Amino acid sequence: MCGIVGYIGYQLAKDIILDGLKKLEYRGYDSSGISIIFEKGKLETIRKVGKLKNLENELKNLNLNGNIGIGHTRWATHGKPSEINAHPHTDESGKLVIVHNGIIENYMSLKNELKSKYEFKSDTDTEVIAHLIMDNYKGDLYQAVKLALRRIEGTYALVVMHADNTDYIIATKNSSPLIIGLGENENFVASDIPAILNHTRDIIYLDDQDIAIVYKDKIDLFNKEGNKVSKNISKISWSISAAEKGGFEHFMLKEIYEQPFSITQSLAGRVSEVEGKIYIEDLNLKIEDLNNINRIVILACGTSYYAGIVGKYYLENILKIPTDVDYSSEFRYRNPVIDNKTLVIAISQSGETADTLAAIKLANSLGAKTLGILNVIGSAISRETIGNIYIHCGPEIGVASTKAFTSTLTCLYLFALYFAQEKKMINSDYIREKISNLKHVPKLIEKIFSPNSIKNIKNISNKLANFKDCLYLGRNYNYPIALEGALKLKEISYIHAEGYPAGEMKHGPIALIDKNTPVIAICTESSTYDKVFSNIKEVKARDALTITIATEGDLNLATEVDYIINVQKLVKRFHLL
Ligand code: F6R
Repeated sequence: MCGIVGYIGYQLAKDIILDGLKKLEYRGYDSSGISIIFEKGKLETIRKVGKLKNLENELKNLNLNGNIGIGHTRWATHGKPSEINAHPHTDESGKLVIVHNGIIENYMSLKNELKSKYEFKSDTDTEVIAHLIMDNYKGDLYQAVKLALRRIEGTYALVVMHADNTDYIIATKNSSPLIIGLGENENFVASDIPAILNHTRDIIYLDDQDIAIVYKDKIDLFNKEGNKVSKNISKISWSISAAEKGGFEHFMLKEIYEQPFSITQSLAGRVSEVEGKIYIEDLNLKIEDLNNINRIVILACGTSYYAGIVGKYYLENILKIPTDVDYSSEFRYRNPVIDNKTLVIAISQSGETADTLAAIKLANSLGAKTLGILNVIGSAISRETIGNIYIHCGPEIGVASTKAFTSTLTCLYLFALYFAQEKKMINSDYIREKISNLKHVPKLIEKIFSPNSIKNIKNISNKLANFKDCLYLGRNYNYPIALEGALKLKEISYIHAEGYPAGEMKHGPIALIDKNTPVIAICTESSTYDKVFSNIKEVKARDALTITIATEGDLNLATEVDYIINVQKLVKRFHLL
């Protein structure tokens, strides 16, 4: 995820900003930049690709002695990692600079509108904001930002500065974090607490669409209605390392909790409920290409492979195109049958997994159309494929994949809908209904994080901790989910676990089930509910401890099994399809 640091005060802004950006390095980035006003009317912007060290080295050679500035570490979302795409971005005069985290959903239409007036230099959605603010600028930066924000749809944490103005910087946010740190005769802005903990522990959290005018000795804060407001100051007691994890014990837990946000980001700019339409950029597949495809092959490893199985079910259900899922490490070492009518999709969070990279190269050499579903823009796999869909879930620092899995599922589903839409297999009413369902998913995930639900999950985990083996069961969409559950359990707890299609259990594995093998069955309301229910009865008959993931309100299961983890029902019937 990108990092933002802003400073106004009496110290050298470049030192404070660089120090802050270093504290955010752990979050991952591909380029960085800084703007400093060194004299009224004059600012300097330096941007570098790669490590912060490159920016630091460049700054050493420059005498940038201003006390007001903004900086950014970028994790590419629109446009490849390059100096031109790195932040800060300026308007045409070069006097207004902005840094931005998030995704501007309507940037294409704004860009079309503004490009007759202003020259665009980058591929980013952010540059649109710089031109839009200047389009509204008549000497009052706050007013210009306020007017520009009325036109912007999407998520943002935004910090704005103008060279003619050495008294303040402007900070605002919508669904992306941004905080203000309060000092003595100096103030700070940052996307995350660790960036400023060396200087202050007094923080103001901005609410969505608040606009803060940050002076060195005061903050003027306006809410989304434009009314002046005051906010409580929070004292941060965390250590820097706890702050990096957002107060969570470890990154994996933080990333699990990030899922409502990461799924929202995966959807951002791609769904229009009003039009009943899906938009996917950078696919580089024309309708003739899509019409020509008669087979799909998904290549991936580990968690991405399991996401691929869910993808197969989506694609076959919606498109009726035969879809295979292959381990990259198997595909690359055999002689796969692929031709130019095959669409090969590589799924990879990192975009660097060696087997998947080699497999996609092989698919290219066999004439397939290739596509990546990836998290890292500019990664090795993205450079091999014809087109890419980025999952936009932000860097995954925890070793075990979590939020990338659910964001990948979101993108696979969007792709299946998009493909069917372009082939005119589905109409806008159908798509509108699916978009409405998708938009609810983040809210439903949040319910799983409610205190009671977490208490229940912790209690079940404590019961499981002393077992040596576990079996995960599911059918249909919940079969790959069972595989993924088992992978997570063995990887994180070192308990041996296997995922199985529930219907296969009687063909062998049932021999292993007894009181020493707990069974985790995913038995949500679906077309295979009754089947899984009877599988649960079978394992119960062999004295296994039964844990079930069930649809909230399922009283039948509640009386049958030992423990239940409830999930919410998304739609009246079954699942997303
Ligand atoms: C499991 C996990 C791995 C990865 C696999 C593929 O928790 O993280 O199984 O999913 O190594 O990695 P990517 O998706 O980066 O290609």
